[in-house]
Amino acid sequence: MARKLGWSDVTPKAHWLNRRQILAAAGAMGLAGPAFARIEAKPSRFSTDEKPNTLEEISTYNNFYEFGTDKGDPARHASALTTDPWSVEIAGLVDRPGRYPLDDILKGVALEERIYRLRCVEAWSMVVPWIGFELRSLLDRVGVQPSAKFVAFETLVRPEEMPGQRSPILDWPYREGLRLDEAMHPLTILATGLYGEEMPKQNGAPIRLVVPWKYGFKSIKSIVKISLVEKMPETTWVMQNPREYGFYSNVNPAVDHPRWSQASERRIGSGFFARRIDTQPFNGYAEEVAGLYAGQDLAVDF
Ligand code: MTE
Repeated sequence: MARKLGWSDVTPKAHWLNRRQILAAAGAMGLAGPAFARIEAKPSRFSTDEKPNTLEEISTYNNFYEFGTDKGDPARHASALTTDPWSVEIAGLVDRPGRYPLDDILKGVALEERIYRLRCVEAWSMVVPWIGFELRSLLDRVGVQPSAKFVAFETLVRPEEMPGQRSPILDWPYREGLRLDEAMHPLTILATGLYGEEMPKQNGAPIRLVVPWKYGFKSIKSIVKISLVEKMPETTWVMQNPREYGFYSNVNPAVDHPRWSQASERRIGSGFFARRIDTQPFNGYAEEVAGLYAGQDLAVDF
């Protein structure tokens, strides 16, 4: 296990802008609509040095079932989603519950660039230069009560704008959860952008979770509710098929999905016949996170 990380290890100084500043900068540059101001962000020590996928690849090959189950559906349909105004309800075992406007959440947070691999349970992967901030900084601000053991997340339900929600493909809202220590880990971020710009809607605008050592489905998009709870929450894929998907869903090449291997992965964009890459335990972050699971049998707690 690596030494305990301090805030200064992971927060590059003076390399962040808040959402208002980004929008103001975009305005000053005469840009309408979404902001396209570049955000200067120093590489985080947690970033992979692998080459990021292109913006085109990252924003056209998506899983966001609210917009349909085809990989191209989110890019086709997500433009209809209204992401401003947006607020996130913070509920449950916290000192300061409430519905927080996104701009208030982002006021003063340290936005960083974090280049992470996203390893999907479908055995493909991408490398994404996220812009985000640590979830723990938000949880600290709302005051987590001692009885809280888990964090539950919910995505927006708005079938008028999310055509996939007009069918019962999943039991909406899309739900995810983390154990509190996972949520408080400095690798866990809430992302509001990528490639130095605001988040494309198909990638979960305006705010989504990114947990780089877990399969991609844990990284819930377009979050409207965060609850601190005592019991392990119900999560979408466990509700859907508990034999195939577990609550933890740590990337683990040694534990196969019942219908396919998790030992290797196909990097999006590398061509269909490109050599497959070996999947790494915890997606390459074992040194940072394996200690969270000391004493657990990860073939049981999969
Ligand atoms: N969040 C919601 N709300 N709905 C979804 O269908 N799909 C998950 C996750 N978050 C999903 C979601 C899955 S299966 C993956 S692999 C990632 O989003 C994909 O994120 P990306 O499209 O940004 O690569």
